[in-house]
Amino acid sequence: MATNKYQLPSPYVTASPLQPTEDEVYYRHLDDLKLESPKQNTKYGVAIFGVGRAGTIHLRNILNNRRLDLLYIVEDEEDRLEKIEKYYCLDPKSVRLISGKQSSLVYSDPKVRFVVVSTPTDTHEAIIDQALKHNKAVFCEKPISSDVGVTVKLFALARQVNQPLFSAFNRRFDPSYANIRKRVRAGEVGKVLTVKVCNRDAPMPSLEFLKISSGVFYDAFVHDVDLVLYSLGELPDKVVSFSHATVPEIKALGDYDNVSVLLSFPSGTNGIIDLCRQCSYGNEQRLEVFGEKGMLKAENRAALGNVELYTLEAVSKGPIDYSFPSRYKEAYERELQHFVDVLDGTATILVTEKTTMAVSKIATAVEESARTGKIVQLRWTADEAIE
Ligand SMILES: NC(=O)c1ccc[n+]([C@@H]2O[C@H](COP(=O)([O-])OP(=O)(O)OC[C@H]3O[C@@H](n4cnc5c(N)ncnc54)[C@H](O)[C@@H]3O)[C@@H](O)[C@H]2O)c1
Repeated sequence: MATNKYQLPSPYVTASPLQPTEDEVYYRHLDDLKLESPKQNTKYGVAIFGVGRAGTIHLRNILNNRRLDLLYIVEDEEDRLEKIEKYYCLDPKSVRLISGKQSSLVYSDPKVRFVVVSTPTDTHEAIIDQALKHNKAVFCEKPISSDVGVTVKLFALARQVNQPLFSAFNRRFDPSYANIRKRVRAGEVGKVLTVKVCNRDAPMPSLEFLKISSGVFYDAFVHDVDLVLYSLGELPDKVVSFSHATVPEIKALGDYDNVSVLLSFPSGTNGIIDLCRQCSYGNEQRLEVFGEKGMLKAENRAALGNVELYTLEAVSKGPIDYSFPSRYKEAYERELQHFVDVLDGTATILVTEKTTMAVSKIATAVEESARTGKIVQLRWTADEAIE
C-alpha cells in the first residue's frame, strides 16, 4: 500500500528544507519582507540617452529599481518626449526630458552619477567621451564602438578618470547562462570540447535599424562570441565564417543575414556559432557546452511552455519567447542591478575592458573572414588574456 505506508511526519514538526539558491526571486522576496536595509542604500542619479528598442527596456528597469533616481531622459526624436512623459506618468519636476542638443545639462549636473547610453552605435563615442570627462560612470549598450581604436581610446579615458565603462553584454546576466558558466568552471563537464551557440533573431530588425547597426558582426555576433568567452575564459587563435545575404534588402546594405562561425582554441576546444537575422517561430537562443565528462545546455524559453494542448493528433506546447525583450527580461534587470553593485563597490565589473576588447577584435577578424572566405589567425599578448 503506497498511501499510508510512506506518510511523512507533519511538515510543521520537521525542519523546513533549504530553499534552492537558484531561486533568486524568492530570496529577493524574503529580503523585501525582512526590510533590512543594506549598508549601501543610497540612490544614484541617472540619465538615459535614447529611448528606442534597447532604451525602452532600460527605462522601465531604471524606473523599477528602488536604488535609482531618474533625472534626465535625452531623446533626439523630440516629438516623443511628451509621449514618454505621459506614458510613464513622469513628474516633470523630477525628470527632465530633453533633446540631444541640450545634453550639456546632464554632463554639468553633479546629481547625475551615471548615464545609460542606448542610442545608435555611431553616437556612443561622443556621449561616452563627454560623460567620462564629467566624471560620470557609463553603462553603454553594446558595442561600445564598431571601431577597435575608438573602444581602446574610451577605455583609456575611463581608466584616467577612474570611472566604470560597462559594455552591456546582457546575456552574461541571464540566469541559465550564468548557471552554465558556474558549472563549467567548477569542472562538471570536465575539459570542454565544444561550445555551441544558436542565435536566431525574432522579430527581424527593421531595415532602418540595420542601416545604422554597424553590421551583423558588431551588432549581433558580439553577443554570441561574448557568451563563448564567458563560458570558456579562453581566446581563439583561428576563426572562419561562412556568411550569406539571403535577403535582397540586407544584401543591398552589404550586410549578411545567415552566418556560421567556427572558432578554434589553442586548448583543442571548438566554438560553433549559428546566427540568423530571422526566425519564423520566435527568438531561438540556445547554449550547449560539451565536455569529456558530460554536457550542459540551456534550451529555449517559453513563457507559456507549461501549458499543453492535447488533441487526437498531437500534444503541443505554447511557442518559445518571441523577442529579445521577452527572452532576456531578467538579464536586462540583473545587468542594471550589477552596475549599481559595481558603483556600490560590492561587485567587480563582470564585463571587463579586456573582454570587451577581445570581443571587438574577434568580431573584426570574423568579418574579415566573411568578406575574404579565409581562415583568420588571431594573436594575443599575455596582457590580453581573459578569465
Ligand atoms: N543588448 C541588446 O539586447 C540590444 C538590443 C537592441 C539594441 N541594442 C543596442 O542599443 C543601441 C540602440 O539600438 P536600438 O535598437 O535601441 O536603436 P533605436 O533606433 O530603436 O533607438 C535609438 C534611439 O536613440 C535616439 N537617439 C539617436 N541619437 C541620439 C542622441 N545623440 N541623443 C539622444 N537620443 C538619440 C533615437 O531617436 C532613438 O529613439 C545600439 O547600440 C544597439 O546595438 C542592444
